[in-house]
Amino acid sequence: MHDTHGMRDMVDPTRPSAARVYDYLLGGTHNFAVDRRVADEVMKVAPTRELAQANRRFLVAAVRHLTTLGVRQFIDIGSGLPTGQNVHQVADETARVLYVDNDPLAVTEGRSLLDGDRTSYIRGDLRDPQGIMTHPETNKLIDFTAPAALMIIGMMHYIPDGDDPIGIIRSLMSKLAPGSFLVLSTATDRLPPRVRESIDTHYRSPGTLMVWRAWEAVERFFDGMEMEPPGLVPVERWPDTTADVGPWAVAAGIGRAP
Ligand SMILES: C[S@@+](CC[C@H](N)C(=O)[O-])C[C@H]1O[C@@H](n2cnc3c(N)ncnc32)[C@H](O)[C@@H]1O
Repeated sequence: MHDTHGMRDMVDPTRPSAARVYDYLLGGTHNFAVDRRVADEVMKVAPTRELAQANRRFLVAAVRHLTTLGVRQFIDIGSGLPTGQNVHQVADETARVLYVDNDPLAVTEGRSLLDGDRTSYIRGDLRDPQGIMTHPETNKLIDFTAPAALMIIGMMHYIPDGDDPIGIIRSLMSKLAPGSFLVLSTATDRLPPRVRESIDTHYRSPGTLMVWRAWEAVERFFDGMEMEPPGLVPVERWPDTTADVGPWAVAAGIGRAP
């Protein structure tokens, strides 16, 4: 059914991978020593485990909220490893979920945990929106005449401005039905310099280079959309605006396209 052939060969256990580091931070078991070393180094100066957990809480809250608004299809790009509380486990049981990641391990492990015809996991790159939207699995799973949610959680900080992230989002959203949603969280330059330096030093490898964006630059990802309350907020504060905020300054929000 899926083109898994050869993917295991493309997993390199000697180089850290963002998906596996993140899996380790969330308490998963799909990671190698090299990933755990990177995570442990960064955790010495930055509460990255708490950050990953706050990000995951946002994902869960966002899916629950959109479910109450009647959204029954989700495209989760940069979904990572299946570390529990995935979109399809939180959404309505009739929902269809397309997972997309460019990390071969995330894709193979993800597929092995999915069954049924309401979910699919494809290998795709956010920098190639056409490739994602024209993939046969996407066309099989997603109804382009009904609103959907595009989820880009904890990964826009891997896409430099030179790759035209605003154009990527526009291109993806333009294929979805009117009234579709963008769910996005990403690191910002409000993160203390010491923390950024540590992440830059230890988390650097192809695919894990970090882009530290200004808050205003993140707001521009939602241009032309109506923000769901409470708007673009520190990730811990979606939706509870009274929640304590950690020092990591990750921005999170949900926008609704006209
Ligand atoms: C920090 S994890 C976030 C996982 C998940 N979205 C969450 O919030 O729990 C980032 C994920 O983005 C993936 N990724 C990085 N660059 C990507 C790209 N250009 N296209 C698709 N996925 C990418 C990584 O492989 C990794 O699985």
